[in-house]
Amino acid sequence: MSSVQETLRAAIRNIPDYPKPGVMFRDITTLLGNPQAFRRAIDELVHPFAGTKIDKIAGIEARGFILGGAMAHQMSAGFIPIRKKGKLPHDTVRIAYSLEYGVDEMEMHRDAVQPGEKVILVDDLIATGGTAEGATKLLRQMGAEIVAACFVIDLPELGGRKKLEDLGVKVQTLIEFEGH
Ligand code: PRP
Ligand code: MG
Repeated sequence: MSSVQETLRAAIRNIPDYPKPGVMFRDITTLLGNPQAFRRAIDELVHPFAGTKIDKIAGIEARGFILGGAMAHQMSAGFIPIRKKGKLPHDTVRIAYSLEYGVDEMEMHRDAVQPGEKVILVDDLIATGGTAEGATKLLRQMGAEIVAACFVIDLPELGGRKKLEDLGVKVQTLIEFEGH
């Protein structure tokens, strides 16, 4: 394991049985509150795209906003918020997506992306991939070219990475955790 991965892994707090029994919650607030770890995570997320022209970072509410805002600043890119339904004030495009238990809807402004723009999708974690799949479909519906989808944490046993790769999306993750 590289030292970057060790630094990030050590900065994440593990909370057993949250939000329900049997689930280990991977809490990134401790990483965000650690100046070295936060900078390291953002540096690692943007590193593969050095020299690539990226128009916009699309962040998924809520934790994807924090990472995506920092990435957009570092890459001199714009930022697109992908929000839970009912939060955006202008014309939106909306999609239903599946969560581990149940469904929800997310939306983005119709004018947030122009056809052909190169976009990186970002969130803190990919589990089943339902959330990122929904965001991918929304962005593509509006003509975005998704260069990659980036996550700090992958839970590979839940299959999200494969789901996105099957959609033709390049996936970049920084660390993996076993289990749920
Ligand atoms: C968590 C996490 C990802 C999503 C991953 O968000 O932040 O967005 O679940 O799960 P999936 O790959 O199975 O779709 P959550 O829905 O808890 O909302 P929040 O970020 O607003 O807290
Ligand atoms: Mg989330």
